[in-house]
Amino acid sequence: MKNTWSMAVAGLFVVLGAAGCKHSEPNFIFMPDMYYSPALKAQEEGAMRTPVKGTIPRGFTPYDYAVENNEELGRKLVNPFQRTKAVMLRGQQQYNTYCIVCHGSYGEGDGSVVPKMPRPPSLQTEKVQNWPDGRIFHVISAGQNVMPSYAAQVTQEDRWAIVHYIRALQRAKNPSEADLKTAEAR
Ligand code: HEC
Repeated sequence: MKNTWSMAVAGLFVVLGAAGCKHSEPNFIFMPDMYYSPALKAQEEGAMRTPVKGTIPRGFTPYDYAVENNEELGRKLVNPFQRTKAVMLRGQQQYNTYCIVCHGSYGEGDGSVVPKMPRPPSLQTEKVQNWPDGRIFHVISAGQNVMPSYAAQVTQEDRWAIVHYIRALQRAKNPSEADLKTAEAR
């Protein structure tokens, strides 16, 4: 009798468990390389269609401040991210992808495309060191003179991560007494 009950209970779980399964996708895909086709169907998200006027892509935050507002925005736009290891690594990766070619590995304006492209000013100057984070963010977002805007390539999150990374480059070139002490102690 006891056995019959436990069988019944076990059976119930099997039925409930199966009800939760989705059968639209197999649980295990052997060698998925060609399983998902990069081709898009006409109505699928991402298929080539002109967006309706005034709409923005999902997950995209528009940035529509004018270039000239730099002083004001430098004060207004505050870096929302903490200087965590993950943020720094992301900033480094993004800087090395989008900025290093012109600005160089320490931001000194000695990137590999210089002097074929105009040499940018150093990001190590006292001026940029004293700029608030928001002002550097604004230059990346809106561009400045011959430097184009990177708003289309770099998300706002990544722009803030780049700003943190530029701060690290500045600190590496101008370490404080405390920084040097920590370095010595290592
Ligand atoms: C194609 C080359 C190029 C790339 C790539 C580039 N910049 Fe620039 N950047 C410049 C030039 C040239 C200037 C100077 C613009 C000017 O005359 O005001 C500049 C100016 C700046 C300034 C202002 C410096 C100052 O003293 O006024 C900052 C900050 C800056 N860039 C950050 C970045 C960051 C961050 C990236 C990557 C997202 C980046 N730039 C990508 C060429 C570039």
